[in-house]
Amino acid sequence: MEREIIIEALDRITDPETGQGLVKAGKIDNIRIMDSIVAFNLILPNLQVPYKTSLYQTCHETLQEIFPQGQVHIHIEARKDDPQVHKAASTPHLKNIIAVASGKGGVGKSTVSANLALGLKMLGYKVGLLDADLYGPSIPTMFGLKNEKPKVQKVQGQPKLVPLEGHGISLMSVGFVVEPEQSVILRGPRLAGLIKQFIGECMWPELDVLIVDLPPGTGDIQLTLVQTVPVTAAIMVTTPQQVAVQDAVKAANMFRLDSINVPIIGVVENMSWFTPEELPENKYYIFGRGGGEQLADYCGTTVIGQVPLIQGIRESGDNGRPAVLSTDSLLSSYFVDLAQNCVSQLQKRNSNLGPTQQVLINK
Ligand SMILES: Nc1ncnc2c1ncn2[C@@H]1O[C@H](COP(=O)(O)OP(=O)(O)OP(=O)(O)O)[C@@H](O)[C@H]1O
Ligand SMILES: [Mg+2]
Repeated sequence: MEREIIIEALDRITDPETGQGLVKAGKIDNIRIMDSIVAFNLILPNLQVPYKTSLYQTCHETLQEIFPQGQVHIHIEARKDDPQVHKAASTPHLKNIIAVASGKGGVGKSTVSANLALGLKMLGYKVGLLDADLYGPSIPTMFGLKNEKPKVQKVQGQPKLVPLEGHGISLMSVGFVVEPEQSVILRGPRLAGLIKQFIGECMWPELDVLIVDLPPGTGDIQLTLVQTVPVTAAIMVTTPQQVAVQDAVKAANMFRLDSINVPIIGVVENMSWFTPEELPENKYYIFGRGGGEQLADYCGTTVIGQVPLIQGIRESGDNGRPAVLSTDSLLSSYFVDLAQNCVSQLQKRNSNLGPTQQVLINK
């Protein structure tokens, strides 16, 4: 009898608690194979769960079908989940989580994140924005909420953060909870703790999309994020410049690792050209051309937005009212187009691929 066949068959059975296969959900333990006997433990959160008998029978019938001559022994065990492992099912109110990433710093992740989040809101979606750049949070400034603090509310005796609201979307940033001088000294476990807190201990409302603005590169914060929640998709931001593209390839490779496996649904090329205000028809390609497309080809995806270098984009970010909200329709159109393309890529991703699995930590 093949262990692999048993594992595969049991994983085809859905765990009623998490919606995952029984094996992936960690509900099968201690598989023993002796001559014609297959035995294993079926782990339930408690012995009173209403689906106990039916799940037992499904497991039994499934294995009996594969091994009609064999004997199947199932031992039911009651065991609570390990609270350290944050299960996917604990964030069903966050329907899609999109990470905005880059290789190099300063290429416009925060600008893209804020404008994309607000663009999605303008299209009618319920949106949240998590500023996961714990070293250099930009979101409080970009939403004119510097010095604001989130409320803390007790839920079943546990303190929970209440996200702030800015221009109609829910926001959380380390800039709301830590003084700027303190954030630079945050290290390893404290960083991971904050990311977990901002997701698990924050009262996000039901959201269609949570945009996560990451710091540059492939550090602890990126890894903690994928270990804390199932990230639906990533968007890579780059300038057309070759050094930015090369660094972005490294960051993209992290999401593409088999063990992480977060689909990249698009590339945003920022600072694609410069247009002076007095000559709106002129385009100067000061960082070169074609970098976004090159990165998209490498990632097997498409360019979902090209945003020029425009003074108004920088100013609106600094003034707490991102460019997509501008009455200048050309300025806002770059990000409305981006939001529309993002929605269609996300829909494609969700109809072609299953949910991303949260990366489990090997203890
Ligand atoms: N298209 C643009 N036109 C003009 N200014 C821009 C544009 N995109 C970004 N900027 C400005 O460039 C600076 C860097 O942008 P931003 O903070 O969004 O980058 P980032 O990738 O998030 O940086 P970091 O890696 O430090 O988090 C900001 O001052 C921002 O206002
Ligand atoms: Mg940033």
